[in-house]
Amino acid sequence: MELLCRVGTLTWSQSISPLHCSSRPFSRYDTKRFGVFCASDQAQKANQMTVSVTGATGFIGRRLVRRLQADNHQVHVLTRSISKAKLIFPDNGFPGIVIAEEPEWKDCIQGSTAVVNLAGLSISTRWSPEIKKEIKQSRIRVTSKVVDLINESPEEVRPSVLVSATAVGYYGTSETKVFDEDSPAGNDYLAEVCREWEATALRVNKDVRLARIRIGVVLGKDGGALAKMIPIFMMFAGGPLGSGQQWFSWIHLEDIVNLIYEALTNPSYQGVINGTAPNPVRLAEMCEHLGNVLGRPSWLPVPDFALKAVLGEGASVVLEGQRVMPARAKELGFPFKYRYVKDALKAILS
Ligand SMILES: NC(=O)c1ccc[n+]([C@@H]2O[C@H](COP(=O)([O-])OP(=O)(O)OC[C@H]3O[C@@H](n4cnc5c(N)ncnc54)[C@H](OP(=O)(O)O)[C@@H]3O)[C@@H](O)[C@H]2O)c1
Repeated sequence: MELLCRVGTLTWSQSISPLHCSSRPFSRYDTKRFGVFCASDQAQKANQMTVSVTGATGFIGRRLVRRLQADNHQVHVLTRSISKAKLIFPDNGFPGIVIAEEPEWKDCIQGSTAVVNLAGLSISTRWSPEIKKEIKQSRIRVTSKVVDLINESPEEVRPSVLVSATAVGYYGTSETKVFDEDSPAGNDYLAEVCREWEATALRVNKDVRLARIRIGVVLGKDGGALAKMIPIFMMFAGGPLGSGQQWFSWIHLEDIVNLIYEALTNPSYQGVINGTAPNPVRLAEMCEHLGNVLGRPSWLPVPDFALKAVLGEGASVVLEGQRVMPARAKELGFPFKYRYVKDALKAILS
């Protein structure tokens, strides 16, 4: 079998049997000691993707970029600000990464295997009429640009996959209904944003496999709603937020990144896929687990106004939730690492 062997910058090929780099079996020890890397060049190249990512500098995007680079995929960061992106992805930690502002997005997208679209103004702000407009327009503008660039690409350099973020806000809010991918859209402002955001992604060339991931509240250490909720929760000694009866459809950061990654590589991941854990909880339960993990008894209700102070009207996502089931991800056999919020919070906070 023809294998490529590399030591430092030297590359050579030799005919040897699989898993052998010399007369004895190749071991991980060899890799560590001599920096030797042997792999089937063809197999590696066939599996290697070039992925263009909008919103790569954000909470989910940063983790996705790490994951893609760890698996030797080429990443193109499509950003509004090269200088900001370079601080997040310095050359020494992210060798070979390509960072591009809008005029270069076309060159990045043409020749990419896939595009992941995560960009959009954060909803966790005070919602003035201008901000509300920008929450919607930022998503539609970037998605529209990405879709146009994909559609205008000559076929031989056109990406074959678009994984586009959307949100469980699509379904509207309810304390009693259960939503899955077949449920109709809601009628509130966030549902309207998601509908138009998804409709823009749906304009992509029909030969491009499109996965629209309706993401729930992403739980992770360094960002998202949790990072903003914890100080408030600590201040009020932590109890349910509002009535506590609202549903909280969450997902661990690692699982949403794995789901996006799977959608890039697995042709069965197409259409709408809810990016939520299999066991959504009522907010009171979420807060009880949060209190336990933080070592704070859950005994005082945290007033709505306190959460609104840090999340703005974006707090509505937490204060008026929805119970969303990942029916499609289950059907596809997606292996959730964190199925219960208690385990997710423990992993994140302890
Ligand atoms: N995190 C969650 O819990 C959650 C839940 C449901 C849905 N989602 C959706 O998933 C996507 C990624 O979430 P995230 O938490 O990683 O978001 P994030 O941390 O807020 O990052 C989003 C990225 O979008 C770009 N962006 C920000 N404002 C923009 C604007 N006005 N116009 C164009 N681009 C702008 C920025 O990238 P550059 O500065 O590099 O351009 C930013 O890093 C978002 O679209 C979000 O709505 C997230």
